[in-house]
Amino acid sequence: IAAAAAADIARLSGVDHHDIALTLGSGWGKAADLVGETTVTIPATEVTGFSAPALAGHVGSLRSILTPKGKRVLVIGARTHYYEGHGVRRVVHSVRTAAATGAKTMVLTNGAGGIKSTWKAGTPVLISDHINLTGDSPLEGATFIDLTDLYSTRLRDVARRVDPSLDEGVYCQFRGPQYETPAEVRMAKTIGGHIVGMSTALEAIAARQAGMEILGFSLITNMAAGIQTTPLSHQEVIEAGREAEPVISDLLARVIGEL
Ligand code: 6GU
Repeated sequence: IAAAAAADIARLSGVDHHDIALTLGSGWGKAADLVGETTVTIPATEVTGFSAPALAGHVGSLRSILTPKGKRVLVIGARTHYYEGHGVRRVVHSVRTAAATGAKTMVLTNGAGGIKSTWKAGTPVLISDHINLTGDSPLEGATFIDLTDLYSTRLRDVARRVDPSLDEGVYCQFRGPQYETPAEVRMAKTIGGHIVGMSTALEAIAARQAGMEILGFSLITNMAAGIQTTPLSHQEVIEAGREAEPVISDLLARVIGEL
């Protein structure tokens, strides 16, 4: 099914090979605009296994971008979330499709809650590792893959060369769609987490299985429940993304330019 989707992309874009794939999480919708020239935009509904997201802050299309250095970037604006309940295979379909287009590098972005008190809404951070709290896996059967250095140290170093002020943290994927309770956030902190969200970890596992090198960014859109005293809302997540747009667009373009 990933091969069929990759064939759809090749047919609809006229680009038969991509070097890098980029998944845009909430807040990152416009962040790919400086990466290069968009050669084609494909509605997600025209590609096998993809569907349009009905969610504010997410973009329902795929794009092929040509960077100034001649790299082809497949931009995935339509992420399927685990909480939608369509199963983990659907969640990682875009990643497997990206791998089937030839992409060797997977850049995963998301909007997430922050636990580290030095962060505030609008701070982009690198994902250094993850804790998968979904209880699920995209792997089936005896697929004992290694997840050491899942979020490539080499690629994180590249990103920090572009922006030495980038901090990093461990991402905890919760199932959602409700935000965590303050007690769950304290648990995440106790077990070594710094970022809470509802995506990315399952996708990273599938990307590693496919042999890709992974770079992960979280945009801290708000502090996690109990860290911030005000209630969390999807609206504040969207607004933080909008405000951070110029900064994360520039960051992403420069980092991808160095890959
Ligand atoms: Cl606080 N939690 C989760 N799970 N996802 C988020 C978030 C928090 N803020 C933005 N996305």
